[in-house]
Amino acid sequence: MLLDRLKDKFVELYGDGDIFTFFSPSRINLIGEHIDYNGGRVLPAAINIGTYGLVRKRADDLINLTSENIDLKVTVSLEDVKYDRAHGWGNYPKGVLYFMKEREYNIGGMDILVKGNIPNGAGLSSSASLELLIAEMANILFNNGEIPMLELVKLCQRAENEFIGVRCGIMDQFAIGMGKKNKVILLDTNTLEYEYIEISLGDNALVVMDTNKRRELSDSKYNERRAECEEGLKILQEFRNINSLCDLSIEEYNSLKSHISDDKIRKRVKHVVYENNRVNLTSTALRIGDIESLGKFLIESHNSLKDLYEVTGIELDSIVNAANSFDFCLGARMMGAGFGGCAIAIVEREKLEEFMSHVERIYKKEIGKQCKFYIAEISDGTRQLNNCALD
Ligand code: GLA
Repeated sequence: MLLDRLKDKFVELYGDGDIFTFFSPSRINLIGEHIDYNGGRVLPAAINIGTYGLVRKRADDLINLTSENIDLKVTVSLEDVKYDRAHGWGNYPKGVLYFMKEREYNIGGMDILVKGNIPNGAGLSSSASLELLIAEMANILFNNGEIPMLELVKLCQRAENEFIGVRCGIMDQFAIGMGKKNKVILLDTNTLEYEYIEISLGDNALVVMDTNKRRELSDSKYNERRAECEEGLKILQEFRNINSLCDLSIEEYNSLKSHISDDKIRKRVKHVVYENNRVNLTSTALRIGDIESLGKFLIESHNSLKDLYEVTGIELDSIVNAANSFDFCLGARMMGAGFGGCAIAIVEREKLEEFMSHVERIYKKEIGKQCKFYIAEISDGTRQLNNCALD
């Protein structure tokens, strides 16, 4: 068992004593891409792969961080939590602890061991998964679990924005912290109002397809897209009293678009307005179990992210085209920030084996790389795995 093995490793590293275990999932996003920083609605969910964490309180104020995935141990004193490039992955936990201190939550020394089964850089939010894991550990160990999850979600987004420097929206942290088994979250990123919608895909499975192309450039490209949206918003605000691009209906966009003379900016805005509308259409389809339409919206979303938002790339296009060319795939699209990472597909369960070899063969031929698949189960958000310490 993974947890038994991790427990042995923990004892080897930090000695005997109580150990508390936690799990923080990764996330998928059914639809609504590059929408969460434009004030619109998204449809994400937590899934059953993620980050395991073992932790014990220390008597001093040291934080010891060890990962089974990355060979870099980090030790930091709570008196001196600041960004340090050399600390690599350790900066994510540090960012969370920094803002917990700033908000004056209780916090103390901890020995921590983490192990993730989310591929890094695959667009499944391994960073948000780690952030929420650390936040929930500190919540349970030092604050009797009294900090509301929504507070932790916001705090982790701040850590990513201000400590790490990636201007992500709130979707990933929200889905990971607030996820519920078998439910997608219809989240309004403007008001943070949310609603759980039961996901019933009938005889179909949700497949995550990993291109194995890591998204090295994505952070700068991501920030670039945000800036382009801000530019579009500024232009349109001269003509309409809006706070964000998603305040616009499709009709309003069409009546205003001629004011945006820059072709590139107009395309970005068009994606945002139409994608936001697709989220509404998809949530209606989900409620009435109209899986066919869901598939169709996924395909439209991908095309828009490819042609208008320009965040796909040859790997994502190849894997999505291969998936969509399979008879028993209802629809597929890239997911997350883009430029590599993962795509999702809705595929008939009985045909999964055939589907995977079909996509694998085409992808290998076109891109020369192996791809990977995960059958995603929609799961609960970040949580402690047992109520008492493992002895
Ligand atoms: C990344 C960000 C999210 C969101 C998606 C694109 O995953 O972390 O906030 O913007 O990209 O939809």
